[in-house]
Amino acid sequence: MVREQVLTPADLIWPLFVTEGDAVEEPIATLPGVSRWSVDQIVVRAAEAIELGIPCIALFPNTQADRRSDDGAEAFNSDNLMCRAIRAIKTAHGDAIGVLTDVALDPYTTHGQDGLLDDDGYVLNDETVAALVDQAINQAAAGADIIAPSDMMDGRIGAIRKALEMNGHQNVQIMSYAAKYASAFYGPFRDAVGSRGLLKGDKKTYQMDPANGDEALREVAMDIAEGADYVMVKPGLPYLDIVRRVRERFDIPVFAYQVSGEYAMIEAAAAAGAGDRDALVLETLTAFKRAGCSGILTYHAAHAARLLRD
Ligand code: PBG
Repeated sequence: MVREQVLTPADLIWPLFVTEGDAVEEPIATLPGVSRWSVDQIVVRAAEAIELGIPCIALFPNTQADRRSDDGAEAFNSDNLMCRAIRAIKTAHGDAIGVLTDVALDPYTTHGQDGLLDDDGYVLNDETVAALVDQAINQAAAGADIIAPSDMMDGRIGAIRKALEMNGHQNVQIMSYAAKYASAFYGPFRDAVGSRGLLKGDKKTYQMDPANGDEALREVAMDIAEGADYVMVKPGLPYLDIVRRVRERFDIPVFAYQVSGEYAMIEAAAAAGAGDRDALVLETLTAFKRAGCSGILTYHAAHAARLLRD
């Protein structure tokens, strides 16, 4: 009766990895229980999400090596894996499920960085923003409901918002990865999208230092001013103080991403007998809500929704 927080499937966003082929499931070794799916199977996962009451799925492509390039041009191909997945989901399910798409170049580049590089290997901010705008418009044209830039370049939210308006996509929303940290928790994700082996160096010139909290509030303020509809904090559990501060300071829904390394830690703990898997899942997700999240991206989404239902 006096419980302050109630976790429901409607709080969850389910990240899914898309791969080439037909009727394909590829397990990801560092993310036990998570697979890449071919487009036909992604449509089935979307049906599962609808059935479970999960309102939104987030898509990430595993681009084949021969379609990657230094400039990530596959990101603007209207027939790329991401666009084919969006169209298939929308054809099958229409508005019954929300589709959130990642905007960043790392699944498309040969170097695994989120942006375009100069000759010394530094990420070029403004050239990258122009590419991200093309990528976002490509995804919106395919039917994406929410564009989620995860690249952390400066000025990209404003540029994408303007381009969406100019191209007739004024109803497409933007969820900005506003406070994204240069984290050691992203390893399994990089395996999943095939960029771990390719990545040279790190992402510390554009992702945030885990030691900084005030900087996160400045990043959020900028993205709101540029037209973000929602903001995200990432990773999740180690950064719930940031979620709480954003929640208290700004009048905008804040989401958190319980990232791949966090998922892997829970699975490893459960497999080692250090804790009960279901209890760990529900406790951590409830903690996100208590911190002030409007929603949580989690690879445990379907499992958690089943636990909440049964
Ligand atoms: C990259 C991107 C990353 C994640 C989402 N988008 C990894 C990175 O920044 O290298 C991580 C998600 C996860 O670990 O689950 N644009």
